[in-house]
Formats: sequence, C-alpha cells, structure tokens
Amino acid sequence: MNNVTARDLCLRPGAALLLLTTLGLLLIFALPQGTTAQSKPVAATPPMGWNSWNKFGCDVSDKLIREMADAVVSSGMKDAGYQFVNIDDCWQVSRGADGTIVVDPERFPNGMKPLADYVHSKGLKFGVYTDAGRMTCQKRPGSFEHEAQDIKTYASWGVDYVKIDWCYAEELEPDVQYPKFRDAIAQAGRPIVFSICNWGVKAPWTWGPHTGNLWRTTGDISDKYDSMSLIGFSQDGLGKFAGPGHWNDPDMLEVGNGGMKHEESILTNPEVIAVDQDAKGVQGHRVWDEGPLEIWVKPLADGSQAAGLFNRGESALKITLDFKTIGAPASGKLRDLWAHKDLGTVQNSYTAEVPKHGVVFLKVSK
Ligand code: GAL
Repeated sequence: MNNVTARDLCLRPGAALLLLTTLGLLLIFALPQGTTAQSKPVAATPPMGWNSWNKFGCDVSDKLIREMADAVVSSGMKDAGYQFVNIDDCWQVSRGADGTIVVDPERFPNGMKPLADYVHSKGLKFGVYTDAGRMTCQKRPGSFEHEAQDIKTYASWGVDYVKIDWCYAEELEPDVQYPKFRDAIAQAGRPIVFSICNWGVKAPWTWGPHTGNLWRTTGDISDKYDSMSLIGFSQDGLGKFAGPGHWNDPDMLEVGNGGMKHEESILTNPEVIAVDQDAKGVQGHRVWDEGPLEIWVKPLADGSQAAGLFNRGESALKITLDFKTIGAPASGKLRDLWAHKDLGTVQNSYTAEVPKHGVVFLKVSK
C-alpha cells in the first residue's frame, strides 16, 4: 500500500491503549537484560514501533515491510519516537536439513538480511516473531529445540527485537522454555529486545523480569474500545513487577484499523508519549473510581505526576481530581497534556468534563 498514513499503522507500545499504556507501563527488579557498564540498557523505556499482525495478519512480504518502514518515517511516527518495524507470524515456511529456519522465498525473495539492512538504513530497528512451541499460531515452524540456533540466525540478519509466542506448547513450562531464549540472546552478542508473548499464562510478571524485556499480560486485543479498555484497565496492580528494561505488555495498539473513534485512539501526541517514555519508568495505577469513571496516576522523573481522568461511560461526564487523592500539595500547577495548554495554579481540586470513552490527561506539579 502506498501513501500509508499514521492512521493505517497498527502500532505497539507499547503502549495502548495509548494512554493506558502510557499510564499502564511501569518499575523494579533485575538489571535490565543486556546491560553492561558501558551500554544503554535494552528497552530502558517501553519499546515503541509497528507490528504487522493486527492489520495484515499473514499477508506479510518484503515489499510491505519496506513500505511500512517508509511510512513510519514519512508519517512522522519515527520523529515521535516509534523505532521498531516488526514482522509477526507467517514469514517462515520450513527448516533446512541442518535445522536452519527457512524464510518464505516468494514473499521475502531477498531473504531477511537485506530487509533488515533497509529498515536500518531508515534509522529504524527490525524485529521478527517466533514461537517457543513446535509451531507458531499460524502453524509455521516453531523454535522448540531450535532456540539457540534461531536466535543466532536472527542475530546474523541484524534483528533487534524478537517476539516469542506460546502456541503448540501445551506440555511445556513457560518459565523453563523462555529462559532458553534469554540465554541464547546473551550468547548472540547483539542487543535484542526479548518480547515474551504467552498471554499472561503462569503469571509472566513473576518470572518475566529476569527473563525478557516485556511480557504479554493478557490474551489478544481486538479492534474495539471494549477490548482495548478491558485490557488497559486490568493492568492495575502489575506495576510493581515492571520498570526500565522489563515491562508489562498489554498488547499492541489497534489505532487506524478502523474500529475505534478519535477519543479512543491517538498516536503521536508528544506530551502524551513523553509520559509513556518517562525515564522513571513507574507504571501508572488507579487511585479512584466511581461507576464508569476512573483516575489513574503515574509519577514522573521530574517529581510531577501525570493524571488521567477516564470516562468509560456512554455519555460525557464530569470528573473531579482531588489533589489529596494523589498526595499532591493543596496548590498545584496543571497542564493539559493533550491540548498542550497550561491551566494555571489550581487550589485543592480540578473538575473537567470528559467525553464518552475519552480522557482528560493532566500533569500536576508544584
Ligand atoms: C497470537 C499473538 C498475536 C499474534 C498471533 C500470530 O498468539 O498473541 O499477537 O502474534 O499469535 O499468529
């Protein structure tokens, strides 16, 4: 597809749920995987980029991925911080006699290395998908018993991100299988973001922080507000497992795929993305709810707090942010992050009308 705009891109974080990811990503434990004294940690902030699955399913090709890389640049997504261009399921067809994974020769006639080089030439990073079981969810060869071999192959192509699924793995244990990939990545000698995709099975937030850089916390998102909001709002409480280098993953965005309204899906607001990418890396949490209304808060590196006033209801409603609820001083400076507008110094509380399925997103500082 030519002239792809931001609205045609189904994007990940990471995020979501853009705002929920924004509020919903967050802090703690092991040293970020791949960290050395000299290098920048892998996934120090939630990885942002594009993934083929939610828009194109199995209809992936060399041509499509090049076009998407071009579009990430021309649409302004790259400037907004989106870095990765990731191929999901269906790029692989079989294994060679020595077990090496074989790329679909019709859809990727140049092989993966030239495609990775192209994506890199745009100043972007390149990702692929595999499965820890015997087959991928679309019945392509999985990486079971080929863990180190596959990671080595990906590293030789210049892969920067690998998403590892959990289909056809019924008799396997995720906390046994996934560490094999972690160890293979460490051996491969290339920083690779390791995305665990086992849909929350066996509480990946408990073993994920010392295994990968992010782990899916739920089943698949679909292109509807209900799906997106159920996933996003269910992240409350998982913040204590996450932080720089290891994040909860509430699945990919569905922005631009057609099923959501303007209020439900926005991608490139820089002040909102800055909250998602804040260096403190503390996940947002719910501080108040009443009926369809919720307030979530995320502390930021500069000592301020981001506060999302969400209306999950079916008509516009007023929400009051009481500064006491978020432990802020009685007098606070407010900024509307969507509108990029200072609201001045406010005493004790702030009330806003929030559209149906919308959010008023504020920064509260001293
Ligand atoms: C699912 C996964 C999706 C997508 C799909 C591909 O298991 O959650 O995000 O990768 O497999 O078949």
